[in-house]
Amino acid sequence: MNPSSRDGFTSTFGVLLATLGSAVGLGNIWKFPSLTGMNGGAGLLLVYLLATLLVGLPVMIVETMLGRAARANAITTFDRVAPRGQWWWKIIGWMGFLAALLIMAFYSGVAGWVYAYVFKALSGEISTTDPKAAGAAFGALVSNPVSSLLWQWVVLGVTGSIIMLGVSKGIEAVARRLVPLLFILLLVLCVRSLTLPGGAGPGLTFLFSPDFAKITPAVVLTALGLAFFKLSIGMGTMLTYGSYFREDQNIPATATRVMLADLSVSLLAGIAIFPAVFAFGFEPAAGPSLVFMTIPAVFTSMPGGIVFMTLFFLLTAIASVGAILSLLEVVVAILSERFGLPRKAAAISTIAMIAVLGVP
Ligand code: ALA
Repeated sequence: MNPSSRDGFTSTFGVLLATLGSAVGLGNIWKFPSLTGMNGGAGLLLVYLLATLLVGLPVMIVETMLGRAARANAITTFDRVAPRGQWWWKIIGWMGFLAALLIMAFYSGVAGWVYAYVFKALSGEISTTDPKAAGAAFGALVSNPVSSLLWQWVVLGVTGSIIMLGVSKGIEAVARRLVPLLFILLLVLCVRSLTLPGGAGPGLTFLFSPDFAKITPAVVLTALGLAFFKLSIGMGTMLTYGSYFREDQNIPATATRVMLADLSVSLLAGIAIFPAVFAFGFEPAAGPSLVFMTIPAVFTSMPGGIVFMTLFFLLTAIASVGAILSLLEVVVAILSERFGLPRKAAAISTIAMIAVLGVP
């Protein structure tokens, strides 16, 4: 494809929001609190902060620059920039393709749980502060393979339709509207969680006061993985988005802003969740179910809880859209530019592959 005929982001602010939309997602609201809870709290947070600053940010800048220099999908980028005869560089592009597909296979499943929780919140079904009842409600959803799969396919249908619209109309337009709203709702949640009786002290200590004995090699690896996952690096996304950046976009400044905003969302999610975990007697190491039990409990304890809870899961569902779009775009760009499929056919093929991969 002729580079000048490629679609791309239309404004500097749009680029920032789309890139932020890719970074912010279930990683902040679901993965960060679960991993922090399972890995001893503040120790993981400390290593994660260091990993983000020392490794994540530089890698993000380099990935984005490579993409913009090559103006191509993740695989073709390495065809263009690899030194002559050094074919092995090209494996990295193919690994991005595979990573995006495999991550999407589980990510869309978790996003499906969030979509389901929008309706459960609205019906009042998950309005409880009792850890047992909250655990049972989550267990009922995830242990039902049919409903889990159907919700996952709904997610793929919604995001697939957006991606068919293209980069500027689809991805950029969605990100522009939705990212700021989520921020506001998280702030409301933090205020409520911090004012719950008996929660703020132990919750903030767990999150911010590290026990260095708990920083094991496994915790360091987990934190490093989280830093990559959070900034959407090592999966072809920033290469692909970089290829749509305008020439005048300042990449280090954009990446730094995205990193800072992304960290703030994760910290807000942590501050919203851990005080409530201790106030209501949830288990911090509950794992993937932590958010699905704790957040409903916080909302249940405040006036207008059902409305806010529904809105929260709706915004989380929407935040996951930005990250999913960026992962889908990796594969769609490869199928359309490298294999010559029209954009619509590339989007449908990508969705079909993920729908099948997501079953197991
Ligand atoms: N960066 C995306 C997220 O954290 C994948 O959800």
